[in-house]
Amino acid sequence: MMEQDMEQILFTQAQVAGRIREMAREITRDYAGKAPLVVGILRGSFIFMADLVRQVELPLCLDFMSASSYGAGTVSSGKVNIRLDLQEDIAGRDVLLVEDILDTGNTLSKLVAELQARGPASLKLCVLLDKPDRRTKPIQADYVGFTIPDAFVVGCGLDYDQRYRNLPYIGILKPSVYESENP
Ligand code: PRP
Repeated sequence: MMEQDMEQILFTQAQVAGRIREMAREITRDYAGKAPLVVGILRGSFIFMADLVRQVELPLCLDFMSASSYGAGTVSSGKVNIRLDLQEDIAGRDVLLVEDILDTGNTLSKLVAELQARGPASLKLCVLLDKPDRRTKPIQADYVGFTIPDAFVVGCGLDYDQRYRNLPYIGILKPSVYESENP
């Protein structure tokens, strides 16, 4: 699907599924005896989260939130701009944050600080993709699907201009796709 726009398919549908299965196993083992609250950060996380939680064998609960990465301008305001907040009270709960990608770390470092202030019993971070070369904030994920180079990736929830989220694989977008639209 939409292969013509890809420079390269980085991880096939089967590779993504296989890795998510392993991550789910690890989470099931690490949280044994607990009932974590799994929090998806919209919109990018929804496909990964759906694939992941269906394989986690725990009595978990789900919630979602949405935060803007950069708000007004690219300079960190220090406080995350929450567009959609959780419905659950996370005080005393074991919270597992799920994201599609950890890139500069701007969004997630602010979100983690905001959620820590609400007093969870524990707070861990699970990402499908980690792009450590771009990191500007000291944040690491507890569970990482794949560590990737600094390339423009789409698929499995990740978009370019709101498109390609539904690709069943992770691909590197051809520069000609975004260069032709932003000459
Ligand atoms: C993407 C992604 C992370 C963030 C990562 O979200 O889902 O939230 O950027 O980048 P960072 O580590 O540099 O902060 P985006 O704001 O594109 O929203 P989306 O989830 O709706 O795609």
